[in-house]
Amino acid sequence: MSHCFPGAQLDCDLTMSIHCELLILILTLTLGGQVHTGEVIGGHEAVPHSRPYMVLLERHMQHGKTKHCGGFLLSEDFVMTAAHCQASSYTVLLGVDNFRNSNGVQHISVDQAFPRKDYNETDFSNDIMLLKLRSKAKFNKNVRPIALAGQGDGSLPKSCIVSGWGRTNKDISYMSVVLMEVNVTLTERCPNTNLYCSEGETGPGKGDSGGPLVCEDGKAYGVVSHNFRPHSGDPEIHCFAKIPDYRSWIKLIMPNE
Ligand SMILES: *[C@@H]1O[C@H](CO)[C@@H](O)[C@H](O)[C@H]1NC(C)=O
Ligand SMILES: *[C@@H]1O[C@H](CO)[C@@H](O)[C@H](O)[C@H]1NC(C)=O
Repeated sequence: MSHCFPGAQLDCDLTMSIHCELLILILTLTLGGQVHTGEVIGGHEAVPHSRPYMVLLERHMQHGKTKHCGGFLLSEDFVMTAAHCQASSYTVLLGVDNFRNSNGVQHISVDQAFPRKDYNETDFSNDIMLLKLRSKAKFNKNVRPIALAGQGDGSLPKSCIVSGWGRTNKDISYMSVVLMEVNVTLTERCPNTNLYCSEGETGPGKGDSGGPLVCEDGKAYGVVSHNFRPHSGDPEIHCFAKIPDYRSWIKLIMPNE
């Protein structure tokens, strides 16, 4: 079960075993309530292709396993996701709604991964990563980039949406076949800076990691990172890496975008 430690396997999705589930439960109890997130819980099905920036990220792990995260397209060349979605290699899938339907889906491999060097896998701070694509994404009605919130968009947005193919229920161990989305309301009660947080039992969960937090103006404000329960019995807090705080780092990696 050593492959189930945080930072390694809490995004286990299609193939998650009972052992993993059990270990996650134990980790949830022993690690101050922090777990990587992954399920859109309490959400609804997205209108097919209404979020053309959504990326289904295939993560090719050591020993031939494949796992999944979410991500989002920023340009012809770059995708954003969470740093804890790191893998040996990646395939970016664009234009996906139902992942069993490969019609019109672009599969692009990743040339280079840029996780934040200060990503901390203990407290999940700076959980953000850019992926440079090996060949350019072809834009069409189902494949389009999303704009990022700027440093001037630092005040707390009110109404936001998270989307992903993560589990839709805590009791199941497989991903959603279709893209799901859920409304979330942000709260000031964050465990750390450089985060946006939302509260409550609905929100992102296992398998949604790396997906975008999209707010009123249609820009991406955050990256789905982890869930946190301050004390047992308290409502869960969902944490998102706060994109406006990373704009200068993003500019260094994508100077021409
Ligand atoms: C990572 O976070 C933990 C918990 O906040 C902290 O104790 C540790 O020093 C951090 N590691 C680094 C390298 O900053
Ligand atoms: C979710 O948010 C959107 C946009 O803010 C709003 O139009 C919609 O009614 C909300 N849905 C729910 C279920 O609250």
